[in-house]
Amino acid sequence: MTNSLSNIDACVFDAYGTLFDVHSAAGFFASKLGDLEKPVSELWRAKQLQYTWLRSLMGTYHDFWEVTENALDFALDTYDINKTELRSELMESYLRLTCFEEVPEVLRTLSSSGVKNAILSNGSPQMLEPLVDNSNLGGYLDACLSVDEVSIYKPAPVVYELACKRLNVKRENVAFMSSNCWDAIGAASFGFRVVWVNRYAQQLDRLPASPELIETDLRSLPQIVGAG
Ligand code: LAC
Repeated sequence: MTNSLSNIDACVFDAYGTLFDVHSAAGFFASKLGDLEKPVSELWRAKQLQYTWLRSLMGTYHDFWEVTENALDFALDTYDINKTELRSELMESYLRLTCFEEVPEVLRTLSSSGVKNAILSNGSPQMLEPLVDNSNLGGYLDACLSVDEVSIYKPAPVVYELACKRLNVKRENVAFMSSNCWDAIGAASFGFRVVWVNRYAQQLDRLPASPELIETDLRSLPQIVGAG
């Protein structure tokens, strides 16, 4: 079988877009946003990521809540939406994003087979905890790690290193899953074994590393790491 990764001790997951649907935030307010739901949501996410990269380069780390607020303000201003209540509702909905359908069962299978599971995310602990709780994932996770500990965003290698340190595993024994191609590549460049979860049918980024495997969701992961 070619679609497999051997000697995996830990499965480490990106959060936003990989386990949790970032577009569910705007989706909760589809009736208020109307035709602007998709464009606002796309721009919000794009700016949020840009700001993480730029802040890392500038050495001006502020936590992901603030970055997410700044990005939302940019997106709302772009589309001339000046509604204070909607802004608060959209931010608050970031604490209750829905998880993708297959996630609980995949984490449960991995966990019961003895593989360590962890989240490694740009999100601050205060943002990640309610997501894990709302989706009842806590029982399947060994750690929920935030870049807050190192005050720099992905794909800085020190972020991926955090998972090795906290889980006490070697990088070559870690399977890392992200739907964000640049994050998948950052993790591969660090030395993780990487599955790019290409949920959004995107093109491969041209950057100096590659994911080993490409899947459209997480369903086959237990099989890939020999836990299925
Ligand atoms: C995260 C972003 C990159 O969860 O999706 O780290």
